[in-house]
Order: sequence, then structure tokens, then C-alpha cells
Amino acid sequence: HRHLLGIEHLSQSDITAILDLAETYVDLNRQSTKHSDVLSGLTQINMFFENSTRTQASFELAGKRLGADVMNMAMQASSIKKGETLIDTAMTLNAMHPDLLVVRHPHSGAVDLLAQKVNCAVLNAGDGRHEHPTQALLDALTIRRAKGRLHRLNIAICGDVAHSRVARSNLILLGKMENRIRLIGPPTLVPSQFSEFGAEIYDDMNEGLKDVDVVMMLRLQKERMDGGFIPSEREYYHRYGLDGAKLALAKSDAIIMHPGPMNRGVEIDGTLADDINRSVIQEQVEMGVAIRMAAMDLLARNARDAA
Ligand code: CP
Repeated sequence: HRHLLGIEHLSQSDITAILDLAETYVDLNRQSTKHSDVLSGLTQINMFFENSTRTQASFELAGKRLGADVMNMAMQASSIKKGETLIDTAMTLNAMHPDLLVVRHPHSGAVDLLAQKVNCAVLNAGDGRHEHPTQALLDALTIRRAKGRLHRLNIAICGDVAHSRVARSNLILLGKMENRIRLIGPPTLVPSQFSEFGAEIYDDMNEGLKDVDVVMMLRLQKERMDGGFIPSEREYYHRYGLDGAKLALAKSDAIIMHPGPMNRGVEIDGTLADDINRSVIQEQVEMGVAIRMAAMDLLARNARDAA
């Protein structure tokens, strides 16, 4: 592959290869000296047109730990504000000969469009409600390490599936790896067409969480609700927020995941999120750096092989 635009383009063996390489970077990142030179001499530009903490920081650290020259474009201070288009902005940066472009954009499909115009590798850091491939890969690595496998698990994805690129990429990845997926939430946030992904749909947490191995919680993505129905937070927490009573229905060793950013007391009880015996939320963040190192390493190798 030349780019990493979505999980939909990856095979089972592509996914396994990225996770296996990422394991080596988990080890590197736990050492006191964290440097490798696999991206030495290469230029990485991060373009985030939407807010980010985890994805932006981990792509930056990943590039630096692999020896790339990393530049973060401050999009709020860029000439986008003067009316320059996304494509003109990308072509301007492309003329400076980057090797890797990491792009987050609020519009679904914007990163694919940009990848068709530039002549370097493009990594999708989240486009609208479409895909967030490195998030699904880091979630997969977290699950594989916690459960010892990444197949035939019962996995619940709970909450605002409709507006979530994280849910979509996870549905595709976890389906490709032959897991049983349940989507749990109100019909406004989990529309019936999501059954096309091969998932079972529940609107009752108490039904849906029975005997699951993995509980993945999602934030209410109000910024993408376009003036539509927004549930009251108190009512939502009561029915769909993860608390101890609801978690007790899952397997006794079920893990709790959340891609972040998390809204404590809305989709998840803060004490559960911090419970190191059940919650792997901090591991997800750790795996994020390793996955992004692996993804950029593999794309740089592919570019070298194609040259
Ligand atoms: N999970 C995730 O994408 O978080 P950020 O929006 O903080 O990057």
C-alpha cells in the first residue's frame, strides 16, 4: 500500500503485519532511549484541521522516535483562514517534498481526495465520520495483548456509533478478524443500517452487555450532530452510561475501552474508567504511539521498494 486511508483497504494479513511490527515499537518505547533511524532523512508533515490530543501527539512522537524531520502545521494560523482551499494547501506543502503527510479533516472523504493529488504517503488521522484507521489498529493491538487473541471475541461498541469514525473503522477491522460485534445505543445513535456490517444491534445495555469480552465506550459527538436530536446527559448516563451494575453483566474479565476524549459521568463512570483492573484506556494511548510508528515505517518501506 502507498497510503493508509482506511481499514477497508487492509487484509487480515496486512492488519496482523502492522500489529506484529508495532509490538517491537512497544518494547522500544519502554526503554529509556527510544530512538530508531528508520525514518531518518524523511520529512513528515502533520496537518490537523480538527482538534486532537492523542492522535496529533502520538504521530509527532512516533515520527520523532523514528528519526524523521517532523513539522506540525498550525492549521488555525495557516492561509486556510485567508480562503486557500484544502487541495491548494496540500499542493503547496507537497512542493516542499514531504515523504509522509498525516491528515485529520472534519469532512468524510477529504483525506482520500488529498491523497490522490500529492506524491507522498498519506495517513488518515480521522476524516469526518468515515474512518480513523490508526485508532482501530491501536484498539486491536490493545485487545490482542489483553485477551491473547483477536478473533472469536464478543465485543460491544456502545453509544454514538452513528457519528463515529472510530466505531466504523473498528467495525470493519474487528469484522475482518472474525469477531462477534454488538452495537448498543438508542436507535437515533445506532441506526438499523449498521447491521450491514454484520453486527447485532441492541438498544438495551443490560441485554447487549451480557457475556461480552470487550466493552468499548464512545463519546456523544455533538459536533457532528448537525442540529439533530441531542439526548440529555443525565438521561443518557442513566440508560447508556457504563457503570458498575451494567459492567457486572459482561464477562468477569471483560476489559473497558474508550478512544478518548472521554466525558466522565456522561458515557462512562469516572471511577470505572480509572479502574486499572478493568480499564485499558491508558494502554490504548500507549499502543497509539507504537501503531503509528509501525504504520509510518511500513509506508516508508513500501515507498522505498516502489522507487
Ligand atoms: N482518539 C482520538 O482520536 O483522540 P484525539 O481526538 O484526541 O486525537
